[in-house]
Amino acid sequence: MRLDGKTALITGAARGIGRAFAESYVREGARVAIADIDFARAHATAAEIGDAAIAVAMDVSRQESIDAAVATTVEALGQIDILVNNAAIFSAAPIVEISREDFDRVFDINVAGTLFTMKAVAKHMIGRGGGGKIINMASQAGRRGESLVAVYCASKAAIISLTQSAGLNLINHGINVNAIAPGVVDGEHWDGVDAFFARYEHKSPGQKKREVGDAVPYGRMGTPQDLTGMAVFLASHDADYVVAQTYNVDGGNWMN
Ligand SMILES: NC(=O)c1ccc[n+]([C@@H]2O[C@H](COP(=O)([O-])OP(=O)(O)OC[C@H]3O[C@@H](n4cnc5c(N)ncnc54)[C@H](O)[C@@H]3O)[C@@H](O)[C@H]2O)c1
Repeated sequence: MRLDGKTALITGAARGIGRAFAESYVREGARVAIADIDFARAHATAAEIGDAAIAVAMDVSRQESIDAAVATTVEALGQIDILVNNAAIFSAAPIVEISREDFDRVFDINVAGTLFTMKAVAKHMIGRGGGGKIINMASQAGRRGESLVAVYCASKAAIISLTQSAGLNLINHGINVNAIAPGVVDGEHWDGVDAFFARYEHKSPGQKKREVGDAVPYGRMGTPQDLTGMAVFLASHDADYVVAQTYNVDGGNWMN
């Protein structure tokens, strides 16, 4: 098992990709904290995963909640070896309809949430010594802008940049910071994206999903499980020499 004895804090892990990461880390021998703003669902998810998982209430957009979640995790699991900054929200609108409230909400959760959770956990990792692994969730949306998705795309471009800066800074303490850029991954997140495009591009429900799935070179949308191999690798000793990178795991949608 590649993560035997390790502990991980995964934000936004009550469902979707974060949940799949938690399941894969437990399969590899880790204990995980399922941290989510939806505490009831985090609780249900942790119970389904079993004894190796605990649920933690966490709103990554609030500093006091970040501090409390990190403290709770350290108390329950002893330490944090791996952090996955996975919690994020999607937002989309034509430029002339973007509100400042929406921009602030997306950047508070997606960008500030990632940065200040990274800061809190890095301080813990530096304090206890021995390094650690931090994995941030970027997106193909961070590789280039999209006509109707300006704010979310900008938030994910910021994640790629933060991963580079934090990666260069924290490797001095033996902490590897890297990111994963998924393409289109089916689940509740994409149900919301599909509904948005149904509205703005006058598509029928499910049509946008079919279109983006058909356009993937691999031939279909991704599943959360398609991403777990990279998530385990980046959390393991095999990735000790990998620093400040963002890896596309997207069925061939983007190349760089
Ligand atoms: N699904 C995709 O196609 C796709 C593509 C590229 C990148 N991503 C990224 O992957 C990550 C996971 O995506 P997903 O599809 O599983 O999303 P999802 O919407 O299914 O899950 C996100 C989770 O984050 C939680 N969350 C939301 N706001 C929070 C907050 N303030 N504090 C704590 N938790 C909060 C939600 O309750 C939910 O459980 C996100 O960073 C997303 O941007 C997803």
